[in-house]
Amino acid sequence: MDQKLNRFPTDFVWGAATAAYQIEGAWDEDGKGENIWDRFSHTPGKIENGDTGNIACDHFHRWREDIQLMKSMGLQAYRFSISWARLLPEGRGAVNQSGIDFYSQLVDNLLEIEIEPYVTLYHWDLPQALQDQGGWPARSTAEAFIEYADLASRVLGDRVKNWMTLNEPFVSAWVGYMEGRHAPGHEDVDEMLAAAHHLLLAHGWSVPIIRDNVPDARVGIVLNLNGMVPASNSYADRAAARIEDGIVNRWYLDPLAARGYPLDIIQHFNRPVEFIQEDDLDTIAVPIDYLGVNYYTRRVVRSEVIPEAENEPQIVFANPNPTEMGWEVYPQGLFEILGRIHFDYNFPELYITENGAAYPDAVNENGQVVDPLRIAYYRGHLKSVSKAIAMGVPVKGYFAWSLMDNFEWAYGYTKRFGLIYVDFETQDRILKSSAKWYRGVIKANEVSE
Ligand code: FCB
Repeated sequence: MDQKLNRFPTDFVWGAATAAYQIEGAWDEDGKGENIWDRFSHTPGKIENGDTGNIACDHFHRWREDIQLMKSMGLQAYRFSISWARLLPEGRGAVNQSGIDFYSQLVDNLLEIEIEPYVTLYHWDLPQALQDQGGWPARSTAEAFIEYADLASRVLGDRVKNWMTLNEPFVSAWVGYMEGRHAPGHEDVDEMLAAAHHLLLAHGWSVPIIRDNVPDARVGIVLNLNGMVPASNSYADRAAARIEDGIVNRWYLDPLAARGYPLDIIQHFNRPVEFIQEDDLDTIAVPIDYLGVNYYTRRVVRSEVIPEAENEPQIVFANPNPTEMGWEVYPQGLFEILGRIHFDYNFPELYITENGAAYPDAVNENGQVVDPLRIAYYRGHLKSVSKAIAMGVPVKGYFAWSLMDNFEWAYGYTKRFGLIYVDFETQDRILKSSAKWYRGVIKANEVSE
């Protein structure tokens, strides 16, 4: 392909992303049921400053203003998630019509202003009723997901063509059921393993249903992928990096690509896996139209198995000046991971479904939010995307994380990822310098040096 560096293909899709719990608020309005993030954030000590998503960006009431801002930024596409408990307050069974109306209106109005909706079905907000019946470690939750995916795709599928089943099943399973830093806050390796499997199963079961309901559907799944780089050439560091890669990346990529679960990681966990039933791996391996890639950083992996004094000297170090999350800024890692996914796994298409950075933004005396570090972050990563495309990797679009500052999970409102600044006291929105810069990139279809 003859692709000039830093320019993007003419049909490249430019967007920004959000997730329901992080922006909507209205946590108990209009018939919405409670979900695990409501419960978790209402539990003292779980979220920084005791923050909750009760109001968040109040997007549930301000969506008209928000999509006008999207328009003013020149966005062509918007990736958002549906709150499961807004459609099905108990997770299955009774339908909440006003939840359907909310998303239906949002979609209509997006299409009217020529912004293509990309819908994620599950961005971590499991209905609490389903958690009470066992949550993702229970197979019945994957069955309930079929009902939800069926409903959502039936009511929106005449207008929404781009569907993503799950966002980052690794994070749902690992951070929610193993580390306990996310809802539902459990710490149990067996729950984690079963949760991961049932999430993938839910994906596999729902893909054909979405295709049945939606003419011309394009269905994918979103994974968080990190390059894992050994800190030295020692055997211990290389083994540690391989394990990390297996836990975070291959555990999801391999079964989706019909290779089953990676044996080295099955051995690493060394736990019973009888929750894997006959045909499950075939179900999970259902062909997808695209893989969504969320990329933020790489990881430099140092072995903790041998004492530091016995390891070889570290030769790979993270670049200094991380983002406010403490994440290394490593744009080259996006190029590397895209190449690897494409040449190792060969999914038909890839989208960058999230990429972005948190920095401590502030409104200056002129009422502006000037964020050169975020612009530099985006510029570097977009150059990596363009390099990957030039190399033949079929990246079809890019969604900045995030459209606007929002509830950053366990960090509450302390981390700002937005292109749009949100004053959480007044709910005023201000386009940051990065939003204006991004508008220029979209217009030119090119990222400058
Ligand atoms: C990703 C999540 C997204 C946001 C970013 C910073 O893991 O999908 O909701 O929190 O990280």
